[in-house]
Amino acid sequence: MAAHGEQRRAYLEALGIDTWVPRGAPPPAAAAPEATRAAAAQAPTVPPPAPPDAAEAARWEALRAEVQGCTRCPLHLTRTQGVLGVGPKRSDWLVVGEAPGAEEDRRGEPFVGAAGQLLDAMLRAIGLDRATNVYIANILKSRPPNNRDPKPEEVAACLPYLVRQIALLRPKIILAVGRIAAQNLLATAAPLGRLRGQVHQFGELNTPLVVTYHPAYLLRTPADKRKAWEDLKFARSVYRELTQGAASDGHRT
Ligand code: URA
Repeated sequence: MAAHGEQRRAYLEALGIDTWVPRGAPPPAAAAPEATRAAAAQAPTVPPPAPPDAAEAARWEALRAEVQGCTRCPLHLTRTQGVLGVGPKRSDWLVVGEAPGAEEDRRGEPFVGAAGQLLDAMLRAIGLDRATNVYIANILKSRPPNNRDPKPEEVAACLPYLVRQIALLRPKIILAVGRIAAQNLLATAAPLGRLRGQVHQFGELNTPLVVTYHPAYLLRTPADKRKAWEDLKFARSVYRELTQGAASDGHRT
């Protein structure tokens, strides 16, 4: 358990969350500040999902093949490969980012570059791991040249793939990271700052959706990591309320 607390402390440190320990103080689990203590007190509660059945697996495979062969927009001319997503199918949690970058385009997996390392740390701080209990995807499946913002027509061409992914996954909660993901999933032009701190709904199933900063933005603007940590704790509390049945007023307290 001490090792687990240590690990979580390391993740919070990676987020830039203050985890100082006074000189001569007791070990970190006892001495950590409020955010760390609160996180360490709450062991991960996100179970690994069951694998998809044969029919679902076939639908995933069809989707993967379509994305690999997709020519719906000109990005197919410059990409190395389509990047569908990563993580266990049927995960309770879905994280949605913007689009593959250079490293993701090369390796065929979302969020494997510098931003991905920070995303992994952010997710681990709330008990999530792409190998175990969270699925990660992007709005666009193909890399825009020079990592420019997706064009509206590219989003329009690609979004149906994500909608199909969500229908297959049936996540309990969606975490939209960054403005592009949040605005496109919620069909709004509202700034990210206005979209944080509340529970939105996505799609026909009214899947709860929470918004936070994109990890690439946080790498450029570390001062906002603390706000991202508030968002992550908020998303975790929404998930817990959903799965443990506590009442929610839909807003952060
Ligand atoms: N940024 C994203 O939004 N998605 C990735 O997969 C990588 C970087």
